[in-house]
Amino acid sequence: MKSSRFKVTPWEVEGEVDYGKLIRDFGVSKLDEKILKRIEKHAKELHLMLRRGIFFAHRDLDWLLDEYEKGNKFFLYTGCGPSGPIHLGHLGTWLFTKWLQDKFDVELWFQFTDDEKFLFKDKSYEEIQKWTYENMLDVAALGFKKGKTHFLVDTKHANLLYPIAVRIAKKITFSTLKASFGMTNEDNIGKIFYTSMQAAPAVVPSVLAKRNIPCLIPLAIDQDPHFRVARDVYPKLGYYKPSVIHSVFMPAMSGPKGKMSSSEVNSAILTTDSAKEVENKIKKYAFSGGRDTIEEHRKLGGNPDVDVSFQYLRFLFEEDDKKLERIEKDYRSGKMLTSELKKITIERINAFLKEHQKKREKARKEVEKFLWKG
Ligand code: TRP
Repeated sequence: MKSSRFKVTPWEVEGEVDYGKLIRDFGVSKLDEKILKRIEKHAKELHLMLRRGIFFAHRDLDWLLDEYEKGNKFFLYTGCGPSGPIHLGHLGTWLFTKWLQDKFDVELWFQFTDDEKFLFKDKSYEEIQKWTYENMLDVAALGFKKGKTHFLVDTKHANLLYPIAVRIAKKITFSTLKASFGMTNEDNIGKIFYTSMQAAPAVVPSVLAKRNIPCLIPLAIDQDPHFRVARDVYPKLGYYKPSVIHSVFMPAMSGPKGKMSSSEVNSAILTTDSAKEVENKIKKYAFSGGRDTIEEHRKLGGNPDVDVSFQYLRFLFEEDDKKLERIEKDYRSGKMLTSELKKITIERINAFLKEHQKKREKARKEVEKFLWKG
C-alpha cells in the first residue's frame, strides 16, 4: 500500500508527496485545461512546466486573468531564502517567473529573506549576508527585465517592508501560526513574526502606487501556507488577495521523496558546480529507475517516473516534447540504458550551467541595478 505519510511546510518537505491530497488540504484549485487555455491565449504558447503539469495548482488565477483582460495589469512576486548555494531545484520557479514576465510584460518584485534564514537556520548573520549576495548573482543571471525587476532584501529594505509587515502581523495570532506551521512556545519570537514579512511584498507596489494592483505569486507549494494565512488579512487592510500559482517539487538526487535541498550536499546540483562535478554527481548519486543488470534492463525496461535524470529533463532541460517522449519510451522499453540517459542529462545540465556561470559573473556589475532604491 502506498504510504500517505508526508509533510509539507515552508521549512520541511518529507516523504512522498500526494499532490492531490495537498490540493484538498491546502484548499487550492487544480490548473485545469480551461485555465491553461486562457494563459495560452495571452502567452501564445504554454511553458513546458505548464504543459507537463509541473505547475499544477493555483489560487484565484481566473480573477487575475479577468482583471488582465480588462486592462488591469498584474505584477509578479516571488523570492529566495538565502541560506546556501542555489541548486537546480530553485531554478524551475524562477525560470517560469521569467517566462511570465516576458509573456505578460509585467513588473517583478523579488524578495531575499535574509531575516528568515537567520531566524530559522543555525547560521550567523554574516554568513546569511554572504549567501544573500551570492544568491542575488544567480537570480540576476537569469535575465529578468531591467527596470521592471526589483530586488528587496528584508533587512535592507526594512523602511519599506516593516510598516506593511506590522499591519499584517497585527491581524495574525500566534495560535493561527501554531496551527498552520506547527510552531511551538519554544520557537524564537522572530519566527513568529516572519510570515508577515513574506506577506508584505504582495502589496508593496499597491502601497507605492496608492492604488490596488493585482499580484501573482509563482512558488513551489511548500511556500503556500504563508499566503494561505496572509490572504485572509489583505482585504482587511483594503488590498486585493494575491493570486498564487503552485509547482510540485523537483526531486532530490536520492529519488522521489522530499525535495532538492542545498543542505544535503550530495542531493543537489549547484549552479556553481563544474562540468566534472555535475558528471560525478549524476553518475554517482542520481537515483535511477533502471534495472540491476543490463540484461534485466533490456528485458524489463526502466522506470522514468522515478528516474531522477529523466525527471530533470522533464522539469527543465528538454524543451522538445517529442524528444522527451522518445527518451521516455526508449527508457521504458529497455532500449535506452541508464548510462545513456545519464549522459544526455549531464550534457544538458552542463550546457545550461556553462552559460549560466558566465552570466553569473557578469551579474556582479548588475546586482546593484536590480536592488530597489526607494
Ligand atoms: N521563503 C522562501 C524560501 O525560503 C523565499 C520567499 C520569499 C518566497 N518570498 C517568497 C518564495 C514568495 C516564493 C514566493 O525560499
